[in-house]
Amino acid sequence: MNAPAPNPWHHLTIRPRKTPVPFSTSLPRYWMGGHRTLTLLVNSLNLLFPLGERFFIRSARAFLDAAQDDPVLLEQLRGFMAQEVRHGIEHERFFQILEAQGFRLASFLDRYDDLAYKRIEPAAAPRLRLATTAALEHFTAIFGDFALATDLPEAHPELRDLLLWHAAEEIEHKCVTYDLLLRVDPSYALRLQGLGMAVTVLLGFWVMAYLDLAAQDRKLPPPSPAQDATPHPRAPGHTARHLWRQGIPQRLASGLLDYLRPGFHPSQHDNLGAATAWLQAHRPA
Ligand SMILES: [Fe+2]
Ligand SMILES: [Fe+2]
Repeated sequence: MNAPAPNPWHHLTIRPRKTPVPFSTSLPRYWMGGHRTLTLLVNSLNLLFPLGERFFIRSARAFLDAAQDDPVLLEQLRGFMAQEVRHGIEHERFFQILEAQGFRLASFLDRYDDLAYKRIEPAAAPRLRLATTAALEHFTAIFGDFALATDLPEAHPELRDLLLWHAAEEIEHKCVTYDLLLRVDPSYALRLQGLGMAVTVLLGFWVMAYLDLAAQDRKLPPPSPAQDATPHPRAPGHTARHLWRQGIPQRLASGLLDYLRPGFHPSQHDNLGAATAWLQAHRPA
């Protein structure tokens, strides 16, 4: 077994925190600034989180023995798992809001669970599951970096707090599963396989979730002006241009290229300061 690469984030204590503000069921249906497509894109990503984060935990837990001689990493892995448990719980609370708005989530969630975690997961070797988790953690950190950098100005304040809390903790623990993977199997080939699997499942299930929610949204009565005060007429292509102006596709592409570099380590993009600042500013009283 090769020694892990030096990791300047190795000193970090990782622990779960409560979300700063509980959110309510009075959320506007298009809570991303009245923007339907953008809201549905984020909602559909939200649908993937709880089951996905439980998969991350299972993938890492299977290899805890590989970190037995590194008590700091072992403690970070425990902190990472505790954070992911809380993220899953909070995002499931958001599901209740979507259901109160009229969305039926059980059908998609059952299909997602069956395909992703009862068929694909058991068919993948445990090392590939860990490599997939490490790659997906890289992407959650990219989303987190974007969220903290922009402060999500369009988001409803209650959802903004949920997303920024999650974003900050994703950045805080972004090295942990990667460091475990380096201990278990540092081969470049496995890292690439994990990346391939991560991109495929993330895009595949995200598109499935989006199409499901968008179809349901079209059948729901339009939101009342009291519920959604912001007008949201959008020309075709508006969302793509909006996302491009915000730099999301560029960030994802550069994150993908980064991960392909043989000498990549998540700590090389030092964004811990923004995450720590947000978490300190939003400490529960
Ligand atoms: Fe998470
Ligand atoms: Fe994570």
